Amino acid sequence: MNKISIIGAGMTGSTTAHWLAERELADLVLVDVVEGMPQGKGLDLAEALPIVNKDVEIVGSNDYAATKNSDIVIITAGLPRKPGMSRDDLLTANAEIVGKAATETLKYAPDAIYIVLTNPLDTMAYLTMKLNKLPRERVIGQAGILDSARMRAFVAMETGVSVENIQCYVLGGHGDEMVPLTRLSNIAGISLKDYLPADKLEAIVNRTRKGGGEIVNLLKTGSAYYAPAAACAQMAEAILKDKHLIVPCAAYMDGEYGLKDMFFGTQVQLGRKGMEKIVEYKLDADEKALLDKSAASVKEMHEALKKLVKI
Ligand code: APR
Repeated sequence: MNKISIIGAGMTGSTTAHWLAERELADLVLVDVVEGMPQGKGLDLAEALPIVNKDVEIVGSNDYAATKNSDIVIITAGLPRKPGMSRDDLLTANAEIVGKAATETLKYAPDAIYIVLTNPLDTMAYLTMKLNKLPRERVIGQAGILDSARMRAFVAMETGVSVENIQCYVLGGHGDEMVPLTRLSNIAGISLKDYLPADKLEAIVNRTRKGGGEIVNLLKTGSAYYAPAAACAQMAEAILKDKHLIVPCAAYMDGEYGLKDMFFGTQVQLGRKGMEKIVEYKLDADEKALLDKSAASVKEMHEALKKLVKI
């Protein structure tokens, strides 16, 4: 059986475990600093599995040794946003937490592929890759599947069409300047630009960009977790089943779209080796300008990180 370790057994971590257990993909380990909590959640989830007929071993622990020989490590440890906070406000606190999670897990799971979810997402993925000195194939950030799923959900709400017919592609940093590609996003092959009136489409784009904030403002005590966790589970499945699935994720850019030495949301192909390939779009001038603007703000966050941590 494959093994997936989830670091941080809070809302996103435990919900990721839930989605993963339902897929019966791998044995699961939940690690958290809070004593008893990952053990309790792990046991509760294990006790649910007879009801849904899934055979998965689930272990909760406060000790990173439990992650031994994991195929995938998913990092969700860290603080979530509160109302009024941007994802970037989390940098200092989460850099320390993610740095520790990355280096400790590598000791026990030297071959693992990392999926990083903690915000600010692009920068935390960069930190994980640099601290652990990993090739870019082995570190992927979760953001694009989530942002694209939000856009798909909003298009479905607007049109009444099945989400299965709706494909949306959101690239760029996981912040307010993310780039929903309206020209390439489509309903059964028809560009959203042709399917929806301009004002409706613009409203969907704006709601997508602020999708995370909308949930933070409603929850008041934390940030979204069902959809981010479902996105992590899809990534883990694509990797373990060697699906060669093309999905939007944050990947280390090495010249793609003219960007270098940074993590950024792009289409990637996921398979057993992790991030197999970056799939580039031919963007028009307006799309490229939006992407460049988003890249500039992500790069700024990477620079702020480099002032905090020696990497
Ligand atoms: N090692 C392991 N776990 C840790 C550590 C650490 N050093 N520090 C904190 N944690 C744990 C907390 O104890 C908590 O259980 O991380 C967990 C985070 O869970 P929540 O507070 O419920 O936050 P969550 O909503 O899951 O968000 C976590 O994911 O989507 C991002 O922006 C979000 O950065 C945030 C992260």
